[in-house]
Amino acid sequence: MADIFERLIKNYGPIGQHRERAHGYFAFPKLEGEIGSKMKFRGQEMIVWSLNNYLGLANHPAVRKADADASAKYGLALPMGARMMSGNSDLHERLEAELASFEHKEDAILMNYGYQGIMSAIDAICGRHDVVVYDAECHACIIDGLRMLAGHRFVYKHNDIEDCEKQLQRAQALIDKQETGGILVITEGVFGMAGDQGKLKEVAALKNKFSFRLLVDDAHGFGTLGKTGAGAGEEQGCQDEIDLYFSTFAKSMASIGAFMAGPKTIIDYIRYNIRSQIFAKSLPMPFVVGNLKRLELLRTQTELKDNLWKNALALQTGLKERGFDIGKTDSVVTPVYMKGGVEEATLMVMDLRENYKIFCSIVVYPVIPKGHIIYRLIPTAEHSQEEIDLTLKAFSETKAKLDAGAYKAEEIPDMANK
Ligand SMILES: Cc1ncc(COP(=O)(O)O)c(C=O)c1O
Repeated sequence: MADIFERLIKNYGPIGQHRERAHGYFAFPKLEGEIGSKMKFRGQEMIVWSLNNYLGLANHPAVRKADADASAKYGLALPMGARMMSGNSDLHERLEAELASFEHKEDAILMNYGYQGIMSAIDAICGRHDVVVYDAECHACIIDGLRMLAGHRFVYKHNDIEDCEKQLQRAQALIDKQETGGILVITEGVFGMAGDQGKLKEVAALKNKFSFRLLVDDAHGFGTLGKTGAGAGEEQGCQDEIDLYFSTFAKSMASIGAFMAGPKTIIDYIRYNIRSQIFAKSLPMPFVVGNLKRLELLRTQTELKDNLWKNALALQTGLKERGFDIGKTDSVVTPVYMKGGVEEATLMVMDLRENYKIFCSIVVYPVIPKGHIIYRLIPTAEHSQEEIDLTLKAFSETKAKLDAGAYKAEEIPDMANK
């Protein structure tokens, strides 16, 4: 008989295997100081491109005041218990009503976290005869939600509408055979890694051929896309075709929590059947009050979104002009694709941090295929043109070194906090 713990420590997993050299530097780094475009990493000030603080709300004075005042007034305990039992409040309901109105939906339900919220919503909505058709690059929270699905699921190639249609045909055939069940299509407003928008309009147009409901996770579109910031549905002119609109508060809102908006009858069904909320304590009051303030600013201070886009376009145009491959992003998420090994990537990141004072995230094998490196830059409303220029210069210089083989190494450097 094998001991479970023994097996775990024999293999710490694809990223965990590097922990002894990487912990605290490449993994689990600590960014310190006030949240902003510049923060401290290991005591040195860096230009930070890793935070989803899109609108700069994290450290906005009005947000900080609302958070502090609400914490002083309510503490973290209130309300006690799950919403259904003893943890409801007027302010929870007000935030839901405001989110619903902002997203042009009849109603909305708050969730404590996006990850568990959407998982549990999928679980609540889908029965064992239902079939889910979903995009191959959907976020882990959707994939994990589908692990609980008792019905069938068919994945379509990322943003490939022809394949989506093919999978809908399979789903329809299965339902015809079962003589019961329905279809839920799940995709995202913006895919967070590559920054490309989900083809919501094209997916929604398939409703002319198939009967299905559409659920969209718009974590990166909420607050950044559309005329009013209502997200990818508004941007693409198909908000009405999205049956269930979901977003976390972890990105543009720079907070904790999430919501799902849709028809009143269905949101009510979810309210009474979503296990992650029914069997969990309600979102504490300071988060609710803080989120109300953030939503107010997101709606009224439109210059935040304008600044975000000004910075995103300056960064993306600058990278393209310097010959960088930024793929097919049509959001503010800015990936930079390069070729190189894991060891080269780590040395390049160190050079960027130690010599250029640029902090950004990298994605390497085994998350993506061997020999590829993705830098992922997240512009915010707070970055300055000077910070963008310094970053562009740093990227040009380090890329030239990468191409010249300057970062070749046998192994990942030992940068762990000891
Ligand atoms: C697309 C997407 N969905 C859901 C989540 C999870 O949200 P949360 O951080 O609120 O759990 C994230 C990450 O935050 C995300 O990027």
